[in-house]
Amino acid sequence: MRIEQNYSLEKHNTFHVPAKTRWFMEYDTEEELGRILRDEYFQECLSVHIGSGSNLLFINDFNGIIVHSRIKGITMAEETDERVTLRVGAAETWDDVVAYAVSRGWGGIENLSLIPGETGAAAAQNIGAYGVEIKDVIETVEAYNQLTLEKRVFTAGECEYGYRSSYFKNEHNDPHIITHVTLRLSKKPRLSLGYGNLREELEANHPEPTVADVREAVIAIRRRKLPDPEKLGNAGSFFLNPVIPAERFEELKAHYPEIPSYPAADGKVKIPAGWLVERCGFKGKKEGHVGVYERQALVLVNLGDARGHEIALFAESIREAVRQRFGIELMPEVKYIG
Ligand code: EPU
Repeated sequence: MRIEQNYSLEKHNTFHVPAKTRWFMEYDTEEELGRILRDEYFQECLSVHIGSGSNLLFINDFNGIIVHSRIKGITMAEETDERVTLRVGAAETWDDVVAYAVSRGWGGIENLSLIPGETGAAAAQNIGAYGVEIKDVIETVEAYNQLTLEKRVFTAGECEYGYRSSYFKNEHNDPHIITHVTLRLSKKPRLSLGYGNLREELEANHPEPTVADVREAVIAIRRRKLPDPEKLGNAGSFFLNPVIPAERFEELKAHYPEIPSYPAADGKVKIPAGWLVERCGFKGKKEGHVGVYERQALVLVNLGDARGHEIALFAESIREAVRQRFGIELMPEVKYIG
């Protein structure tokens, strides 16, 4: 267990904002996590559990306890001729899990290559890209209830997954801390190539692609479109793609015939927020230390010395512009803390 006081979170958020936390705690085992959760001081303090901070925005210094897991490890839970089940520690870097599976030819998560973050957070957020979501391969999620201190093994159904949402993100539920995630992968993978430019990317060189080819193609697309957080602070998509009623979409389409869209649940329509932001003139725009990435309008970037509140203010100006022009309320995908 590691405990720090007045600790800089700069290396714990991919925006690299220099917020500090009053306390920082890192645990290595479930037993250590249990000790933290039972501690009376901990129970009285404001606390937030983080992964690698790739989907967070620290608005200000945090007057509480930031908790981080170091529970790692990938173990084989079950194997048949058809499939394997892997039990993964929540602190395992997600892309390392993808690389591990792909190098063995196991399919199911290759489309989720190069997504920053740790496995526990990936399962809480239901990360998704190129037509696949982590929920598609999740068998169970092991988590501690922060209030009752009980451990529970959630089935995929009990995780209540939706687009970037889950039981764990729903504020009406007791807060839970995920310790392990069990993934079901296929030894005879069926590739998911339906997402536009993924197939194009593969067609040129790989008429019969393998999971490794898909991983390579996804990495190439992501590298072209998204900034590397190590070089330019960012948290991936800043906003969710809004889902609107079909009638509202038809009205918009009458004004903007070129508006892109995808079918969503319950007959609704999902609009790429990047298109809305770009149409409001924000793509590549810079204001002070904050900017919108020039190749993907959904990504806000820290141009060097941005503070969290500056990024939040800039995001607010984007939301206001989209609200005024399209009557659509963009919701942040990143979680604000502080
Ligand atoms: N678009 C624009 N301008 C832009 C960006 C996008 O017009 O600057 C339009 C284009 O029509 C484009 C469409 O939006 O075809 C979709 O763009 P893209 O393929 O880049 O995907 P996205 O909807 O912007 C989502 C996820 C990404 C994920 C990609 C690929 C969300 C909020 N974002 O982005 O996830 O990588 O699809 O599947 O759902 C993340 O969550 O951090 C993330 C990067």
